[in-house]
Amino acid sequence: MTNRLIIFDTTLRDGEQSPGASMTREEKIRVARQLEKMRVDVIEAGFAAASPGDFEAIRAIAETIRESTVCSLARASEADIERAGEAIRPAPQKRVHTFIATSPIHMEKKLRMTPDQVVEQAVKAIGWARRYTDDVEFSAEDAGRSDLDFLCRIFEAVIRAGATTVNVPDTVGYNLPRQFAGTIEQLLARVPNADKVIWSVHCHNDLGLAVANSLAAVLAGARQVECTINGLGERAGNAALEEVVMAVRTRPDLFQLETAIETTQIVPASRLVSQITGYPVQPNKAIVGANAFAHESGIHQDGVLKHRETYEIMRAEDVGWAQNKLVLGKHSGRNAFKSRLAELGIVLESEEALNAAFARFKELADKKHEIFDADLQALVSDETVTPAQEHFKLNYSQVTSETGETPRAKIILGLDGEERKAEANGSGPVDAAFKAIEQVVQSGTQLLLYSVNAITTGTDAQGEVTVRLMKGERVVNGQGADTDIVIASIKAYLNALNKLYAGLDKVNPQGNV
Ligand code: KIV
Ligand code: ZN
Repeated sequence: MTNRLIIFDTTLRDGEQSPGASMTREEKIRVARQLEKMRVDVIEAGFAAASPGDFEAIRAIAETIRESTVCSLARASEADIERAGEAIRPAPQKRVHTFIATSPIHMEKKLRMTPDQVVEQAVKAIGWARRYTDDVEFSAEDAGRSDLDFLCRIFEAVIRAGATTVNVPDTVGYNLPRQFAGTIEQLLARVPNADKVIWSVHCHNDLGLAVANSLAAVLAGARQVECTINGLGERAGNAALEEVVMAVRTRPDLFQLETAIETTQIVPASRLVSQITGYPVQPNKAIVGANAFAHESGIHQDGVLKHRETYEIMRAEDVGWAQNKLVLGKHSGRNAFKSRLAELGIVLESEEALNAAFARFKELADKKHEIFDADLQALVSDETVTPAQEHFKLNYSQVTSETGETPRAKIILGLDGEERKAEANGSGPVDAAFKAIEQVVQSGTQLLLYSVNAITTGTDAQGEVTVRLMKGERVVNGQGADTDIVIASIKAYLNALNKLYAGLDKVNPQGNV
């Protein structure tokens, strides 16, 4: 058995199934680049058959990523597998991940298939997938509630048919660590040729046990963990990549395993995913929460000052906290700006976009003396709309908020070169500004989420705003950052409207398959 643990990241597929976390093609490419920089072994880039948008995003990732394996999910049908195989074609290392449900409730009520038919379909699926790549993964959906004998039977059949990784998902997060480890042990012991494939696990967090179950499975012999940045994912989410990786690294005495992960890229990845999806990271979240390495109690502070390991089992800099260093200032030039963006994995597509971002950086440097990596990431967050797609542009705003008076906003928007003015009252300055914008735009959208986060500390910090809008079944996330949070809010609102207008949204991600 190997001492290498394969990290399979599904932030762009299962993670994207979190309500409202859908990403545009450019955002997905940005996340994929960061995952590659972090040396994730396998990037599950999406579900190619879900929509043409999903297909295109996977294809673009397959054209961009050189080091990690690029994978697409597919149901066990020839049409799905063909879409997956075509989408990943340009990748140097590619994987098709096909699945079918194996629990009695799923087979009977959802698939309306007999167990024999399910095995037959799974075997056929492996054959279809092998037309595109030798790297084929099979998942027994809802394995956590499946009959062990049946699991042994289907895994034996798919291994014989050519699957190279077999995945045991606890799809509904029902298992407990000892039980799940027992299942893995049994499968490894009973399935013929079990030693010829990689055993993988994919745990959901409905009972808060996704990481515990994944780690228990690793101790029982699993050598791939499927996980997501910040534990994003369907319902309560998936196992958090950062927790799995750091547990294995911090406890070599128990695991004796290595991952390829460049752990200093964990915090930048967490920030990027949070910023793009609008899912904030709770301050006390392990590894990536703002307080994960903060010592509040005097006794703890005293202990850490005397000897760090009295209260610290990991070093903040090892997971990338120190990476948020002071990077640039008012006098930094365009080249320094560009190369720092490149170090952060941010590639702006055109000179025009770079110039616009540099102009915004200079503006920010005038207002805020110390500019950190997180500020730079926020600065380019609304860069996902190209200048040509910027249909609605803020030319002017005046928003007043005075004790005892109703907040009022005056705005001037540029609409394809034409100026339109509006004024509105609101229950607060942001509400007034959004109402004024709506007078002009009349988007007919529903506001699903409005959230503000301070990017760094201090009252001169930039506020980073996410606005999620829905129109019919279409959902978009808009981002905006500024030292003035009302301006950040207006930017985020317009960013969302521009995405909607330019068709940069996703229709009900994976919901229609
Ligand atoms: O949770 C699950 O079962 C899945 C499979 C498709 C692997 O996401
Ligand atoms: Zn899942």
